[in-house]
Amino acid sequence: MPLAAHSALLAAAVAIVAAVSLLVPPPFRFSFPWTPRDHRFADMVLTSATIYTADPARPFADAMAVRDGRVLRIGTYQSVKELKGRHTRELNLSGNVVLPGFIDSHVHFIEGGLQLARVPLRGVRSKDDFIARVKEAVTVISQLNKSGSSLRVMLFLVLAFAKALYQYFLDLLSEQISILGSGFSEEVGTTMFGEVTSLLLLGWMIYHLKILYVWLSRMDGHMGVANSLAMKIAGIDKNTNDPIGGTIMRTTKGEPTGLLVDTAMKLIFDVIQKVSNRERKEALLRASRHALMRGVTTVVDVGSYFPGVSDEKTWQDFSDIYKWAHSMEKMIIRVCLFFPMPTWSRVSDLIDENGRSLSQWIHLGGVKAFLDGSVGSSSALFHEPYEGDPGNYGLQVTDMDTLLNRTLESDKSGLQVAIHAIGDKANDMLLDMVDMVVNLNGVKDRRFRIEHAQHLAPGAANRFGKHGLIASVQPDHLLDDATSAGNKIGSERAERSSYTFRSLLTGGAQLAFGSDWPVSDINPLQAIQTAMFRKPPGWEVPWIPAECLTLDESLKAHTISAAYACFLDHVVGSLSEGKYADFVVLPSRSWDEFSTDVPGKVLATYVSGKQAYP
Ligand SMILES: *[C@@H]1O[C@H](CO)[C@@H](O)[C@H](O)[C@H]1NC(C)=O
Repeated sequence: MPLAAHSALLAAAVAIVAAVSLLVPPPFRFSFPWTPRDHRFADMVLTSATIYTADPARPFADAMAVRDGRVLRIGTYQSVKELKGRHTRELNLSGNVVLPGFIDSHVHFIEGGLQLARVPLRGVRSKDDFIARVKEAVTVISQLNKSGSSLRVMLFLVLAFAKALYQYFLDLLSEQISILGSGFSEEVGTTMFGEVTSLLLLGWMIYHLKILYVWLSRMDGHMGVANSLAMKIAGIDKNTNDPIGGTIMRTTKGEPTGLLVDTAMKLIFDVIQKVSNRERKEALLRASRHALMRGVTTVVDVGSYFPGVSDEKTWQDFSDIYKWAHSMEKMIIRVCLFFPMPTWSRVSDLIDENGRSLSQWIHLGGVKAFLDGSVGSSSALFHEPYEGDPGNYGLQVTDMDTLLNRTLESDKSGLQVAIHAIGDKANDMLLDMVDMVVNLNGVKDRRFRIEHAQHLAPGAANRFGKHGLIASVQPDHLLDDATSAGNKIGSERAERSSYTFRSLLTGGAQLAFGSDWPVSDINPLQAIQTAMFRKPPGWEVPWIPAECLTLDESLKAHTISAAYACFLDHVVGSLSEGKYADFVVLPSRSWDEFSTDVPGKVLATYVSGKQAYP
């Protein structure tokens, strides 16, 4: 191209750019991307707030500046206002109380998310109520199915056809199918329709019945009840033998009632509880929104692992769900993940490869193991037998040599160790084991976690301080246990050993609060009140008043101590300069109002300085 033509083109281009820039309204011209960002100023400042920081260096503040998702400065309005630039958003809270985002120290996050989409049966007290709720859920689900577009119906039919073939070979075709709760039964036979039509119809039904079969599990996950269709699909009938470690409850005539206990539940899970990846991904998103709604900005996910469940399940959650959410930028809450202890070397390799954090959202915590079961199923391990069951002291689910060896290996490779212990004997055994670990591997900042630490023998609480142990406890469980623990272990033992939060703090433990969701709901504001007042609904006096905590102690256990308990106290847990700006805004208009009447819910939740709820 000749030089002249070239420069003419160039001139034309310059003219066009100049003309366009003149057409753009003036304020916009200055914020073209190449304008260097002014780094003297904050993205947002909170003013006129009552900020509880959970930072002992400055317990309260009334203003906070946030930049790039982190706390830039916190203190008085006077000290923060110079960070207010032209583009700084100001949030005047008119006195509202602000707390650091809550940390839930013990959740089964994906399982919790799945349960949110299931029939809510918690708190059901009567058979009629039980049936009514199931019926209502069935009705809702059937209506949801009817409202699909014709395209969806087509898709159903295609999918159903494949399913139908499968079911056909399972020889279900001429069976009578009854659907519990929806109140009708249907006879489907090959004689009434042409082969293809009946397959399609049956397939269509089964596709829908997939959600119309009923499986309801007990809140502790140790027992469940299936309807007749679910039993039929799973092939359980009077000729099915009880599996080892489980019971199929039967009528006097030997017919299964639908109630399945412990390993017998596996007979159903193998067939009907195949949760798809898509459902689990949705469960994570649902769980995240649920937690944010309750003011929780970080959770410690101890996985779907309980004794008897494959170690792979937690790993699948990691690779199919968390890594997916990470790569698709779907993470909206911080998680700290614990993996089954038998797989400690995989965790160690993973950390060698990626470091301890995949991003600001996903942190690799350590390993988790079990020493005993639960009080509800009489399998927590005690020094004395269960009430009315003289031979039963509970269950030790992992032998001590294995547990010690794996703990030593995990600890040596730098992994944090968390072990489930509920009964007083299980807790004593763990405390002895930690002494051995310290003797063999030496003193270091290991933050060994005892999960639950629910019933402690006299003197046990005082042993937590010696090695700086974490007691990862769930206050809201005491609301149920206040009435039921006495039946299991006798009221005298229950009174002296249960949820000894005050004794643990006095004994030097680091207290970290959690919910064990979905066993209890995620609800830090509720847990804080429970720890302060220890009063189940309808109670006039606290259960074991000497173990009540103060508001400040309870708040710390859900914020800074919980962050310490999972090695995340350098980034979250308090509102301090340099940490993530994760916080909640409460409806309370002053500290006085807040401390005399802790509200039941948060107004808003912010993660990395951005509003995440509502
Ligand atoms: C916030 O708003 C209140 C009135 O609602 C006002 O009195 C106060 O001065 C404001 N704070 C700041 C820092 O502007």
